[in-house]
Amino acid sequence: MPIITPVLLAAGQGTRMKSNLPKVLHPVCGKPMVAHALQAARAVSAEIPVLVVGVGAEAVKSALGDSVRYALQDPPLGTGHALMQAEPLLRGKTDYVLLTYADMPLLRGETLQQLVQTQLSNPGPLSMLTVLRDNPRGFGRILRNTEGNIIAIVEEAAATPEQRNIRELNVGAYCFRADWLWEALRQIPLSAKGEYYLTDTVEIAARQGLPVQATLMDDFAETIGVNTRVHLAEAEAALRRRINEFHMLNGVTLIDPQTTYIQADVTLGRDTVVYPNTHLQGNTVIGAECQVGPDTYIRDTKVGDRCRIFKSVLEGAVLENDVDMGPFARLRKGAHLCDHVHMGNFGEVKDSTLGAGVKMGHFSYIGNAQIGENTNIGAGTITCNYDGANKHATLIGRDVFIGSDTMLVAPLTIGDSARTGAGAVVTKDVPEGALVFGVPARPRLQTSAPVEDK
Ligand code: UD1
Ligand code: MG
Repeated sequence: MPIITPVLLAAGQGTRMKSNLPKVLHPVCGKPMVAHALQAARAVSAEIPVLVVGVGAEAVKSALGDSVRYALQDPPLGTGHALMQAEPLLRGKTDYVLLTYADMPLLRGETLQQLVQTQLSNPGPLSMLTVLRDNPRGFGRILRNTEGNIIAIVEEAAATPEQRNIRELNVGAYCFRADWLWEALRQIPLSAKGEYYLTDTVEIAARQGLPVQATLMDDFAETIGVNTRVHLAEAEAALRRRINEFHMLNGVTLIDPQTTYIQADVTLGRDTVVYPNTHLQGNTVIGAECQVGPDTYIRDTKVGDRCRIFKSVLEGAVLENDVDMGPFARLRKGAHLCDHVHMGNFGEVKDSTLGAGVKMGHFSYIGNAQIGENTNIGAGTITCNYDGANKHATLIGRDVFIGSDTMLVAPLTIGDSARTGAGAVVTKDVPEGALVFGVPARPRLQTSAPVEDK
């Protein structure tokens, strides 16, 4: 097997984005553009990709770490010059260079695979991807001679009016034979814009009488290159459509795919139904037969099977199976809801575990707490977990009944099967089976009826 090394160009200014963030770090469906481009490259080759960085190099490096090799281009003098910077890393070490631009987040690994296949059977030194389209979006035009052979790529800025009408466009992915490439790059002339265009390698090959092959693509969405925020929105919409179709074909019902926003790494189980205006983000995993939405935001959360999540916001949480929550419930980091938990409207849970079958129906805040099985949290219950300086824990046993509007002043432990009266302010631990009431809460005496505060 020949060695094929992916090289991605990410050193350009990205001027047209008008952004402080390097262009290739702008997210598309939740992941930086460059991460999508790397994913496609990795589907083709096991060689560690080389990323050419320049403007914003430090930010790009800190986003990607050492999962790639870096070559530095400074200053950015064009795409041909950018690829030259990878030569010291690759000369003599690879048979082919698979070159893509890091601003093409929709390009698929399968398509790059086809490009590589084209080049493996090409007697000439390079193959490329092209697409036919009426709206050229500033792409380079493909020039062919009367025999139909590719002889050059002309950039829009340099094209004659006649050339501008050419419908075959340069997508921006190439497979080069390495032993030819490095010398060819040296022959690229300086353009009128003061850049060395990689696209000129096509003309260099043609002049040497060597064939350049093209794989003609039919899916335009895949070829979207992002140069402006308008393109960014187009890429987002196109990738969203692709992601949504993937889930639907896998057995997930999306009531309205147009208003369902699922980021690239989210997974969903079979027969789950997603209602409109739902945002599923980050490393979210949703099980089978769930009902999610409408108007729901879920990020970095693991949801089991058969859960119902209605108009709620969940971040960094875990739901086991058969959990029922919302409307207007909020889970924050470290919330863990075990099987069959019911959480109704206007509840908030943070850094707490609600044991199996816990019911928390209305207007409660639970933070830094552990709650045992089948405990009932009455309306308006608050864990007073913060004393202005530190957070404190609340431990509640199983089968406990917390009366409405109870204030649980942490640190606090409430034993199994204990009860608190409505409006109790509990400042001391409550033993198993006891009932406490009042402000501050105290146990009910066995022998006499509760005495009212004086
Ligand atoms: C480029 C192609 C064009 C093609 C289009 C497809 C050239 C000269 N033109 O134009 O034919 O149709 O992509 O999207 O190649 N970069 C560097 N260093 C530089 C300049 C750019 O690393 O000095 C990187 C950029 O970060 C970017 C990529 O190369 O990821 C492409 O550069 P960009 O300026 O977006 O080129 P286009 O105008 O889109
Ligand atoms: Mg571009």
